[in-house]
Amino acid sequence: MTTTQAPASEVLDLLAGRDVVVLTGAGVSTDSGIPDYRGPGAQRTSGGSRWARPPGVMTFQEFVSGPVAQQRYWARSHLGWARMGVAAPNAGHHALAEIDPALLITQNVDGLHEAAGSRRLVAIHGRVADVVCLACRRTSKRASLEARLDDLNADWMVRHGQAAMRPDGDVDLDATADFVVADCEDCGGVLKPDVVFFGENVPAERVARCYDAVDALGTDGAVLVAGSSLTVMSGLRFVKRAAKAGTPVVIVNRGVTRGDDLAAYKLELGTSDFLVELAQRRRTKM
Ligand SMILES: NC(=O)c1ccc[n+]([C@@H]2O[C@H](COP(=O)([O-])OP(=O)(O)OC[C@H]3O[C@@H](n4cnc5c(N)ncnc54)[C@H](O)[C@@H]3O)[C@@H](O)[C@H]2O)c1
Ligand SMILES: [Zn+2]
Repeated sequence: MTTTQAPASEVLDLLAGRDVVVLTGAGVSTDSGIPDYRGPGAQRTSGGSRWARPPGVMTFQEFVSGPVAQQRYWARSHLGWARMGVAAPNAGHHALAEIDPALLITQNVDGLHEAAGSRRLVAIHGRVADVVCLACRRTSKRASLEARLDDLNADWMVRHGQAAMRPDGDVDLDATADFVVADCEDCGGVLKPDVVFFGENVPAERVARCYDAVDALGTDGAVLVAGSSLTVMSGLRFVKRAAKAGTPVVIVNRGVTRGDDLAAYKLELGTSDFLVELAQRRRTKM
């Protein structure tokens, strides 16, 4: 299929009259102040591929390698939590809650679609606001873990809060050696944010629910991708599935994506403005 740079109005008309499954990525949250991985301003490993794992992101294998990695992860994550914690949904998140697609699949872990009121939602990579015990699988709230980390490391922030963060966003290893990590309150197991790390698989039942929704669209529906480079196969596979079934795929993204060749339409536009217009178009069609 050849990608067409059509006028936005033609694409809005197409999407206004169809059942849609929407797949979102980090790009829908940049207007809320949460940086993406692969936008124009994102860090890139020198000489590294555009599609490579971004620098400084810990893999699942590193995380489970032992206490040193877990200390480093949680020390750094504890510092970053404040920023993620204060972000609020933007106009695009609110528009999607109004559009209420057949299914909203998000690769984001920020919880902003939920905060905007989207209900028919699969967060394929989980949410940073949830925590899971790797031993007993009990899930709990990140906020209560952060409160425990605050208590356990009362003077750590004072001593290292500024110095620990290097300009590349990484945390000095020496500074994390005395960070105290909290264990599962039930079994003493290792706690991990309930998000899918690089090197980890998306739970099968989440994938199945997304495939079912895409399959149900047929040729009368459409898949809309908003704000994702489709770098990660966990999102790209739904675009492949739709294209194979003849379901038109629309991509709204600033910059190249790995699904461009599969799209019926590609628009290089801001997601917030586009989604607000789409919500309006669907309102007047009803
Ligand atoms: N907010 C979050 O939860 C968050 C943030 C960063 C990374 N992640 C995780 O990392 C992975 C990154 O993959 P991805 O494809 O979601 O993100 P990505 O960073 O690979 O791609 C985001 C794309 O959105 C574009 N973009 C940024 N702002 C935009 C805007 N306002 N309008 C239109 N386009 C815009 C960028 O140019 C880029 O091409 C995800 O799987 C996710 O789990 C999540
Ligand atoms: Zn446990």
